[in-house]
Amino acid sequence: MKKKVIVTGGTGYIGSHTVVELQNSGFEVVIADNLSNSKIEVLDGIEVISGIRPLFEKIDLSVECECNEFFKKHTGIDAIIHFAASKAVGESVEKPLLYYRNNLNSLMNILEAMKENNIPNLVFSSSCTVYGQPDKLPVTESTPRKEAESPYGNTKSICEDIIRDTTKAHPELKGIALRYFNPIGAHPSSKIGELPLGVPNNLIPFLTQTVAGIRPELSVFGNDYNTTDGSCIRDYINVVDLAKAHVVAIERLLQDKNTSNYEYFNVGTGSGVSVLEIIESFERSTGEKVPHKIVGRRAGDIEQIYADTSYSNRELGWQSEKSLDETLLSAWNWQKTL
Ligand code: WQD
Repeated sequence: MKKKVIVTGGTGYIGSHTVVELQNSGFEVVIADNLSNSKIEVLDGIEVISGIRPLFEKIDLSVECECNEFFKKHTGIDAIIHFAASKAVGESVEKPLLYYRNNLNSLMNILEAMKENNIPNLVFSSSCTVYGQPDKLPVTESTPRKEAESPYGNTKSICEDIIRDTTKAHPELKGIALRYFNPIGAHPSSKIGELPLGVPNNLIPFLTQTVAGIRPELSVFGNDYNTTDGSCIRDYINVVDLAKAHVVAIERLLQDKNTSNYEYFNVGTGSGVSVLEIIESFERSTGEKVPHKIVGRRAGDIEQIYADTSYSNRELGWQSEKSLDETLLSAWNWQKTL
């Protein structure tokens, strides 16, 4: 009997790659998504890659009755992976209430549904943004969380606390938060990838759209930081490696290997890479030039962050595998299909 996993936000960027890895690992998947930031055609790509078209339901999980109806209909669920959330940093600054309402209500509705329907396991999509600008690098899981740089980041921090407190009050529930660093790249088949709607906020989609001629030039937001080449440093994690971390986390919960009811893990490569190094790596691996210029700093950007992944490697039993060059080439190959 296949284990059954609900993937909220499963037609999104990281969600769709995780659905592929779950189906390739023998799980039965049902996607719940409101399609506010993704397209239903993503199901075609998932089916081509994994040979299975997951069940899909268009649903707004932030609406309690919709959420309850969904979980009454889909029974025998072994675990939930919760991706569905608003995630644009800049938009969250302009519309904080929309972010708090959507991101917090969705999670709380899911936790209620878990209690009501005896669904024991939750994997939550968190973010390194909860660390703010760390005082010490690389960041470990015991690095204290800081005032997030945006309402978006704050919703991630608050959601972690909600899961921590709910699993403490209800020992039958178990949760794992995965703190992503910067997810990039696309499935090597180029059948699924990042589909930013409108002008991309994030570096890699903006870069690939620039090289594709959709944008005139990439602006590098500052080269006067206290880093090797003056540009910001991040830990860029391949999206397929990141998707696999979710399968490992689900298996950890299903096999009761978790050491407490609420755990959290850094999911990164452990290496910090600057914006200018990203451009060099992209040009080297694709043979394409990236038209770019240095401009002023972007408000809210932290100078540098990258993960200490030793705890994830040892305790979770996961580590990133793909190289930066290979990952950036996969992003370019995907862009060329759009
Ligand atoms: C990366 C670097 C920019 C665009 C955010 C969220 C994080 C996660 C990923 C959602 C920075 C520089 C960018 C550009 C640039 N969010 N940059 N020119 O800000 O590290 O993380 O997105 O899942 O939680 O905080 O990612 O890709 O926006 O920026 O120079 O046109 O690229 O300054 O140094 P960020 P990013």
